[in-house]
Parts: sequence; structure tokens; C-alpha cells
Amino acid sequence: MVATSSRVPLRVPLAERVLAHRVHDVPPSGIRKFFDIAATMTDVISLGIGEPDFDTPRSIIEAGVESLREGRTHYTSNSGTIELRRALAKHLERLYGVVYDPNTELVITVGASEALDLAMRATIEPGDEVILHEPSYVAYVPAIVFAGGTPVHVATRFEDDFALDPAAVEAAITPRTKALFLGYPCNPTGAVLPDAVQDELARIAERHDLLVYSDEIYDRLAYGSYRHRAFSALPGMRERTILMGGFSKAYAMTGWRIGWMAAPAAIIEGILKIHQYVIMTAPTVAQDAALVAIVDGEPEVERMRAEYDRRRRLVVDGFNAMGLATFEPRGAFYAFPRITSTGLDADTFATRLLEEEHVAVIPGSAFGASGAEHVRACYATSYERLEEALVRIRRFVDRIG
Ligand SMILES: Cc1ncc(COP(=O)(O)O)c(C=O)c1O
Repeated sequence: MVATSSRVPLRVPLAERVLAHRVHDVPPSGIRKFFDIAATMTDVISLGIGEPDFDTPRSIIEAGVESLREGRTHYTSNSGTIELRRALAKHLERLYGVVYDPNTELVITVGASEALDLAMRATIEPGDEVILHEPSYVAYVPAIVFAGGTPVHVATRFEDDFALDPAAVEAAITPRTKALFLGYPCNPTGAVLPDAVQDELARIAERHDLLVYSDEIYDRLAYGSYRHRAFSALPGMRERTILMGGFSKAYAMTGWRIGWMAAPAAIIEGILKIHQYVIMTAPTVAQDAALVAIVDGEPEVERMRAEYDRRRRLVVDGFNAMGLATFEPRGAFYAFPRITSTGLDADTFATRLLEEEHVAVIPGSAFGASGAEHVRACYATSYERLEEALVRIRRFVDRIG
């Protein structure tokens, strides 16, 4: 039994007595409820979970197996193997022209998830404000709150293709603002930041001396004419950006739990203190597999990206054809149709769609209030299943409309 303050009366529920307020007060993920319902049904087509349907490419799996066979079953350096850090540094320089020292400026983490947590915990003082676009990935707000910070939301809108409005960001800045949080390409909207918006945000960060957290885990999943730029590659941004990414999405490696972060040495030094005491190292087997992913995985990334692109067009056209207005997502693997034409709110839409047609989508409200008129549909599932899902959704929309 955990010791609790004797001043708290025993009739107060256990969770309130024991859990820290900042933990107790964070609601559970709005996504979970739908998985729980879906798990009780048969024949569900899930567009719910944001995870590649592809298995990890063969050569990457083989690298993991080989690593284990060779007896590489021990800790690595806290920062990750130097081979992987060197390959990552080369990769970032080749793709984005931004140079990091593999010895002092990169850390291999347990997914981008750990990177997010480390970035927040290493830099936020109690009461610091972090400006965050909304809707955004469900883990961002909890990561800020668990670290003692205060999230300040800036709504993004369907009418602007969910790009962040720099003027709205600047208007949200107060003397307590510590950082700007960017998660683009965006989960749940699929939006990207146009170059002009990125440039303006960089100027704002400089003008107000903000730190920038940039979660770019979907950097490789970009479509059409859009070319991703790492935020730290913009002039003046390397010194104030904590860049984060991972292998889960582009290389279909969610279960390996492997990601990374890049920042100036002075910041990484602090981050490493938390990582080394709390985690020690990312799994060795996953690091060895990730090395092969980064060095040899390019054709596989392109194969999967091309297939997501094909599905993206199917899904976006399908939603628009049934009267659910959907802007064209340029990144990640989500479509974010607006469901107001059905007269239902997002939660009711998603619940009824699941119960009546066995298709799981996530209400946009799970990603923040400004997502409330939308649902998130992940198209990382096979083309044929997406076709069938669209038939079912159309039947549902026609029936209620
Ligand atoms: C935007 C975003 N960031 C981070 C993560 C976590 O990724 P990882 O598997 O690398 O921890 C996800 C997973 O869904 C995500 O969508």
C-alpha cells in the first residue's frame, strides 16, 4: 500500500488519495473506448488505430533475428549504438541538410513516445506554457501536463486545411510561454505545414525566444508535391529545436519500440540524464534492426508510402462523394472527414457507425475540442478493406441522412 498524507480523509476514493493531481486529472485516451467496443464484435473494419497494416520488412526482421543470434543481448551505450547514431546523422543530413554530431547530439529512444516525454521533462518548469496546435496527437497534452507544464491550444481549422495560423500562435504568447509544440505531418488531420507557415513560425520562435518541440514521426509519409522540411533545418532553428522522430510509421516497426531525438549538445546532455536513469537504453535488438532500416530500408519506405498514397486517394474521394467534406491530407495516413452534414456529433457518429456497420473510426473530439466536427479514419489498412469500409459508411450516412 502506498503511503498517503494522513490529512486526506479515508472516504476519499483511492485514486484521489494516491495519485498525483496532474495524473489523476488527465482523462483516459478518447481512443480506448472504441477499441474496447470493437474487441467485443466480429467483422469489424478498424480505421481506428494509427498503425501500419504492413509487417516490418523482411530484411529488417532478419537484422533483428541476426542480432539476437549473435548474442547481442546486452545493454548498449545510453545514447544508443554509435553505428545507429552515425547512420541517423547521415540520414538527417541527406534528407534535410541539418547536421547533428552523433556523439553528443542524438539519443536513441523507446519510440518517439519516450522522446516526447524526455523533451518535456527535461525542459519544462512548473507553470511554463507550451503552445500546441489542436487537434493534435492524444499524447501531447498529457506529456506537457505530466511534466508540470500548461498546454495552450491554438485551434486549426478545416477552412485552412488545418495548417497552423502564425498570427494565432503569436497572439497566444504570454510571458510564461516557454515553447511551441509542432506535430506535422499531423495526426489526426493529415495536414502539413506549408513552407511559408513554417518560415513564419520560425521567425516567431526567434522573436519570442521560444524553444520548439517538433515531432516529425510522419516525415517520410508525404504525398503529392509536398516536400517535408525538418524544422531544425530552417535558418536559426537548430539551436532552439528538439527534433523527434521514429521508426514506427515509415518502417512499420511499431512493436519494436524505437525512436530518436536530436538537439544541441547542451540540451541532449540534460535529456540523457533522465533517459539513462529511467530507461538506460532502447532495446538492443531494435537498435540493430533500425540500423538496417535506415541504411537499406529506402525502397521499402517508398513501396509502403506509394500504397498509402493510393489508399489516401480512394478514401478522400470516397468520403467527399458521400457528402462528408474531407480536405486532402498531404501527410501521415489519416483522413479527417467533417461529419456535421449528418446532424450527428462526432462521438455519436463514431459509436453508431461501429455498432450499426462495424466500422471503427475515432471521434475528432478525442484530439481536442476543435476536432469535434470530424472523425479520424486511418487508411493504413488494405485497399480492399477500405473499399468495403466505404460501402458500409455510405450505407450508414444514407440511412441517417
Ligand atoms: C504524432 C505521433 N507521435 C508519436 C507517436 C508515437 O510513436 P512511437 O511508436 O514511435 O512511440 C505516434 C503514434 O501514433 C504519433 O502518431
